[in-house]
Amino acid sequence: RKEGYDHYMLKEIHEQPHALERTLQGRLDAEAGTPTLDFPPGAFADAERVHLVGCGTSNYAAEYGATLLRRWGVEAQALLASEYTGAAPRVDGDTLVVAVTQSGETADTLSALRFAAERGARTLAVTNVVGSTAARECDDAMFIRAGPEIGVAASKTFSSQVASLVLLAATLVRDGEGAPGEEVRDTLRALADLPDQVATVLDGTTARSVAERYAGRESYFFIGRGLAYPVAMEGALKFKEISYEHAEGFPAGELKHGPLALVTEHTPVIAVFAGRHDEKTLNNVQEVQARGAPVIAVAGERADAVRRQADETLAVPDTHPNLAGLLANVQLQLVAYHVSKLLDRAIDKPRNLAKSVTVE
Ligand code: M6R
Repeated sequence: RKEGYDHYMLKEIHEQPHALERTLQGRLDAEAGTPTLDFPPGAFADAERVHLVGCGTSNYAAEYGATLLRRWGVEAQALLASEYTGAAPRVDGDTLVVAVTQSGETADTLSALRFAAERGARTLAVTNVVGSTAARECDDAMFIRAGPEIGVAASKTFSSQVASLVLLAATLVRDGEGAPGEEVRDTLRALADLPDQVATVLDGTTARSVAERYAGRESYFFIGRGLAYPVAMEGALKFKEISYEHAEGFPAGELKHGPLALVTEHTPVIAVFAGRHDEKTLNNVQEVQARGAPVIAVAGERADAVRRQADETLAVPDTHPNLAGLLANVQLQLVAYHVSKLLDRAIDKPRNLAKSVTVE
């Protein structure tokens, strides 16, 4: 039931505060800033490297998790499940392979998992579906507890996947060689506030008026750096998936190495700021504005320099830079939703796509 919402996707976007509360429930000591997942201390002490595999939105959640793990000193890589076997990664008994898959049934992800298991890797599913193939086949499972997601476009499951991976990353750091630093603890303390902050974004958003102003343009570019990069990629995927408009995501610094040739006054650029590397991303904003492109920034409330430079700003509450991308993503979901609604698209069931892709 859509419970008064026009689409399941909008309902699921609005369910995110509760979904995140469930994801975090009992898994976090907010005062100490430590994870309390069901894995005993030392559970991951043997993991020398971590591969996070997934497809589509789940791949971007994996990219977010891998970037955070590397920041925290753990050797980690996000690898597209559909390219995993071909990429010939080093995978053996010292490797922890984390399958990020909301359905737990994506064929590419399952074959990456089986490839890793045959080589002796330890496997862990991060999934929304208890009893799914990934949950059953992996050595361990961590359920993201987002609740059922009907819309083909992943929304609340992305947020719950990323929140789960933040908890998992902190757990891996706990079991690693160095003691978890203040940054890990501060991130986990801030994580406890995330459900309320997502609710604040949902209450105060102006995504709809941004959508009204920019719907129907030639192309849309999404840019970000660091942890804002997978969020920009996810924003572009969501946008193209449900609006059928051309959208691409780029690491902000890559624009000038080719894609800038496409930028004109007809190509809005959506720039994601996460409170780190913001000055560099602002340079990229100026580069596209010099070519006439309007810039819509998604940034923290206190990012005054960003607000001054951008043509529009979608603000999010200030949080730890390691989590800002999660709040920005909610604004991107809403922009994609409202543009698609204005264009009268089949938002819950976009053409050519299925909720779970069971062929390779
Ligand atoms: O069920 P999974 O998380 O394994 O699905 C992976 C992708 O097919 C999925 O995330 C897809 O990209 C979404 N429909 C995007 O919104």
